[in-house]
Amino acid sequence: MSSVVSGATILLDGKAVAVKVRGEVAARAAELAGRLGRPPGLAVVQVGADPASSIYVRNKRKAAAEAGIASFAHDLPATTSDSDLLALIDRLNCDDRVDGILVQLPLPNGLDASRVMDAIDPGKDVDGFHAVNTGLLAQKRPALRPCTPHGVIRLAAEYGIALRGLRATVVGASNIVGRPMALELLLAGATVTVCHTGTRDVEAEVARAELVVAAVGKPHFIPGDWIRPGAAVFDVGINRDATGRMVGDVAYDRAAERAGWITPVPGGLGPMTIAMLLSNAVEAASRRAESRSG
Ligand code: GUN
Repeated sequence: MSSVVSGATILLDGKAVAVKVRGEVAARAAELAGRLGRPPGLAVVQVGADPASSIYVRNKRKAAAEAGIASFAHDLPATTSDSDLLALIDRLNCDDRVDGILVQLPLPNGLDASRVMDAIDPGKDVDGFHAVNTGLLAQKRPALRPCTPHGVIRLAAEYGIALRGLRATVVGASNIVGRPMALELLLAGATVTVCHTGTRDVEAEVARAELVVAAVGKPHFIPGDWIRPGAAVFDVGINRDATGRMVGDVAYDRAAERAGWITPVPGGLGPMTIAMLLSNAVEAASRRAESRSG
C-alpha cells in the first residue's frame, strides 16, 4: 500500500486498504456465485432504531450489495422479545441462502445479547462473536475472526508493520474489540498488555508500547504525549466531541507528531471493519460450500 506521509509519520489509510479488500471480496463473491448458483448471502438484523446503529447497518448492507453479496435486511421494533429475536435467528440459521448473520449491537435494554450470540450458527457468525469462534482464535485456530481486530492486523500487514516480538498495548477489554484484539496480536507473535478499568497506570502501559490499539469509546481518552515516539497507533474509537465533530480515542494532532504510523478517524478502522465483515461473509459461504461437498 502506498503511504501518505505527514512529517515522519505514515498515515494508515484504512479507506484505501478497505477498497482493496472489497475488490478481493467481490472477486471471491463472483466465483462463489458461479459455483453455488446463487450469490453469497448476508443477513443484517437491527433491533430498534439507535441512530448510530442505523448508519452502521445501512453502510454494511450497501457495501454487501456492492460486493455482489445478497443482503437480507431484518429491521425489528425495539419492543421485540428475546423469543421473537431467537426465532428469527433460528430461521436464518436454517435458510440455505444465508451464509452470514449479523445482529447489530448494542441491543435495546431488556434483550440478552449473549443469548442471541450463542444462538447464531458459528459457521454463519460473520462478527466472530460466538464463543466457538472466540475459542478457536484463542487456540490459534482462527475461523471467522472479529472484524475490527482482523482489520487492524490486515492494515498493519499492508504497511509492512511486523508484529512478531512487538510490545503491544490494547486499551479497552470489550468482547467486540479489546479481547479479540489481544488474541489476534498474540497470534501474530506480539507481546500483549490489555488495559481495563482495573489498570493502575494506563499511561505507563501506553508509553512503553511500540503498538497501541485504542478501543475505549471515549473522545481523546489517550493524550498524544503518552505515545512512544515511532509507535504504531490504531484508533478504533468513533466518538463525537463537544462540537459534534467525529473524533477517535486518541488525541490525534499531538499523537501524529510522535507516532511512526497512525490511523485517522474517520477513514481508519471504520472502513476496514466493514471490509473485513464482507470478507467474513465470503469466507463463511466458502466454508459452508466445502463442508457440504466434502
Ligand atoms: N456494534 C459496534 N460494532 C459492532 C460490530 O462490529 N458488530 C455488531 N454486530 N455490532 C456492533
